[in-house]
Amino acid sequence: MPARTFNDDVDWDGWPVDAYLAENYRELHPSDAAVIAHHSACYRRLDTDSVERSLEFGAGPNLYPLMLGAAVCRRTDAVEAGAANVAYLRRQLTEGPDASWSPFHALARDLDPRIPASPGAALARVRVVHGDVRAVPQGRYGLASMNFVAEGVTEDFAEFTALCRQFVRCVVPGGTVVAAFMENMPTYRIGETTVWPGCPVDVHTVRSVFAPLTGELTVTRIDADPTLPDYGDSGMVLLSAVRR
Ligand SMILES: C[S@@+](CC[C@H](N)C(=O)[O-])C[C@H]1O[C@@H](n2cnc3c(N)ncnc32)[C@H](O)[C@@H]1O
Repeated sequence: MPARTFNDDVDWDGWPVDAYLAENYRELHPSDAAVIAHHSACYRRLDTDSVERSLEFGAGPNLYPLMLGAAVCRRTDAVEAGAANVAYLRRQLTEGPDASWSPFHALARDLDPRIPASPGAALARVRVVHGDVRAVPQGRYGLASMNFVAEGVTEDFAEFTALCRQFVRCVVPGGTVVAAFMENMPTYRIGETTVWPGCPVDVHTVRSVFAPLTGELTVTRIDADPTLPDYGDSGMVLLSAVRR
């Protein structure tokens, strides 16, 4: 049996930001729209500015989850291990977001008009933290969001489970968690050459990992998006809950 790749085995500084953006986020795909609609429905249940501090767990170069919290979170920490992703995020915050993020912002704002009117303003409360999500202290946040991280950074199911637990425990009891996972995604390629660890999960495994830690748990799924590259997945799993 080939050796499994764990989170610490990977050089996250080498994440291929441009290729990842080109494959996933240079246009608004139907699956992004579904994730935005899902997360937005959770945020819309929360009062304006009601969360002092929120966490984006493994932010990567994806700006739309950071925009979604703009009406509710007075500050968002985007925690990310990879140097190239951190550099991209910092540039987006200081120089303004790439125009390709405008349709994502427009949809988020259509769904929640409390979100500020420009993509740059919607990111004004974000701080980029270059660090390891496993080092985030427990109970620091009122809300946490995780998109395509726990199942896309290890091949080991026990490590996937540990990352999900760490994600939930970053939030105070009663705090909100929202997440999106690639469904049944094996180890995947980005661009021509790079290979990244994946841990196949589905609605049942995600529910079984989160059920002991959370209440008000909802876990749903969407089909694979034919407009996205084939990463070997069968769709996405979407989750919302509150920490017990
Ligand atoms: C599949 S990408 C998802 C990125 C982003 N959340 C998105 O929605 O596209 C996984 C991300 O997790 C980051 N990552 C991996 N291990 C990490 C760790 N231990 N701490 C913080 N970030 C980590 C990677 O650098 C990468 O940006």
